Amino acid sequence: MAETYPAILFVHGFPLDHEQWRPQLTRLSRWRCIAPDLRGITGGAAPDGACSMGVYADDLVGVLDAARIDRAVWCGLSMGGYILFEVLRRHPERVLGVVLCDTKAEPDSAEGKAGRDELVRVAERDGAAAIAERLLPKLLGTTTRAERPEVVATVRAMASRLLVPGLVGALRAMRDRPDSAPVLEQISVPALVLGGSEDEISPAAGMRAMAQRIRGATYVEVPEAGHLAPLERPELVNEALEDFLLHASFR
Ligand code: MLT
Repeated sequence: MAETYPAILFVHGFPLDHEQWRPQLTRLSRWRCIAPDLRGITGGAAPDGACSMGVYADDLVGVLDAARIDRAVWCGLSMGGYILFEVLRRHPERVLGVVLCDTKAEPDSAEGKAGRDELVRVAERDGAAAIAERLLPKLLGTTTRAERPEVVATVRAMASRLLVPGLVGALRAMRDRPDSAPVLEQISVPALVLGGSEDEISPAAGMRAMAQRIRGATYVEVPEAGHLAPLERPELVNEALEDFLLHASFR
């Protein structure tokens, strides 16, 4: 039973919370799905200045411990993927399989790091709604922005209600994250790599190349979706997830 229906731990991206996974949580109800919020994003302990991918990874292992789950399939989107790489470095024994959505293994460039610092200033000065407005055009694909106003409204509302200390902690943790490219060749559990064809933050070509570096990984490109493919084309993403969860051999 445990092998057929493994627990799934969903790790959200930035600037989002667990609600980004609502379409998956609804559809994948036969699996035990856990979708926590990262620290400080919606409440709880605010991250201090030293927040890092390691802090998030340890927090999430604590969530599994509290739920008495030994190993899970970890599904991370973008920043959730960055955290997943850290989990693979620190706690590989807790990982039964990986789903990497709209993410990348490379660290920030110097320009990217400066962009994080600029966003920290925006968050501290103007609040979460300003971060939402800045990032929305990049988060959603051109098709979603033109044809799915309800998705645009959902993401805007979700990003606007987040707490500034959590946003700042996440921005600094992303800025300082290490290069995870060496982790790719070491992944020895079943892997699904999935991304939107219109993703500007983690472009499809990079996602495909990443999948090629992971032994046995399945790659799925989601048409007419941007960086938030699971929210933009939930029916296609859910199909890919179900197929992976039912057919991968988790050991
Ligand atoms: C995310 O969706 O988590 C962010 O876009 C990641 C990033 O800014 O690098």
